[in-house]
Amino acid sequence: MKETIEKILAELNELKCSTQKEVEEARVRFLGKKGEITALFEEFRTVPSEMKREFGKTLNELKKQATSKIEELKSTITDKETASAPKQDLSMPGDPIALGSRHPVSIVRQEIVDIFRKFGYDVAEGPEIEDDWHVFEALNFPPNHPAREMQDTFFVSNGHLNPLLLRTHTSSVQVRTMETQPLPIRVICPGRVFRNEAISARAHCIFHQVEGLYIDKNVSFADLKQAILLFAREMFGADTEIRMRPSYFPFTEPSAEVDVSCNICKGKGCNICKGTGWLEIMGCGMVDPNVLEASGIDSKQYSGFAFGMGVERIAMLKWQVNDLRHYFENDLRFLSEFSTATEV
Ligand code: PHE
Repeated sequence: MKETIEKILAELNELKCSTQKEVEEARVRFLGKKGEITALFEEFRTVPSEMKREFGKTLNELKKQATSKIEELKSTITDKETASAPKQDLSMPGDPIALGSRHPVSIVRQEIVDIFRKFGYDVAEGPEIEDDWHVFEALNFPPNHPAREMQDTFFVSNGHLNPLLLRTHTSSVQVRTMETQPLPIRVICPGRVFRNEAISARAHCIFHQVEGLYIDKNVSFADLKQAILLFAREMFGADTEIRMRPSYFPFTEPSAEVDVSCNICKGKGCNICKGTGWLEIMGCGMVDPNVLEASGIDSKQYSGFAFGMGVERIAMLKWQVNDLRHYFENDLRFLSEFSTATEV
């Protein structure tokens, strides 16, 4: 064994390599799994124990020398191949990372929020799992209103006086705001809502709303009309007109449905507006005094208006998307259409 060690030492001293390949071969020959030095370590097991100390030391020394010799050769040799290989240019730009784009619903929701922020509205958010009080009761829904029935609302827990459910509109956030915030109130409530609807081109069981609420002394229907007209012109263009049709919501009185003039045919009638020249965009009305009182607001002193719109609906009108389901299918061909629609 001693002789082998000496022989290897001598060879190591003499070792010369001219390419990296040769260095690697030498490494394998001495230190590889089946290398000569590795074999010596195997053999070391059979060395009588009184000699183990001395041999162990020499063997370790040998391994150390071999390793450093190989390292030294490795770092000093420049292969012709290596030398002629193109130098890395660290100033080159990296591989571009494909940037995603914002979802069209997020883009429009942000646009709506930005418009109302400009008008001085705060943004309020609330839970998606709500209780009956905030979604229905405090909003003046009579106990047997059809929207409470299973076909419209997803109930999370049943049978209580105040069951938990997935909110069917973000008016629940308006109730929470009225209950906790000082007057006057001027908020918009963007968020996801849920309804037990059959999925079709025009309806989905999940969609997004932005609802708004303004409560102060002497708020009138004229204020509501003006706020919505300004919003419509910011959203759909300066020449947009609005019209209001009487409607019904349990929480507003009077209530109205708002249409904007069709910005595609400019009111002449096309297939988007179904020949009418008008497109329905939201519901609105003056907050019912019962709703104010339910949240502890004196309806003799204060009045207010509320409105609510579907974000997908606005986005469909903006980009003439004819099927609501596109927004939920995550088809990249559809989603990438909007990558340049606004800044990412
Ligand atoms: N909450 C109504 C809905 O979800 C929208 C609405 C809000 C209507 C406020 C009038 C006033 O359909």
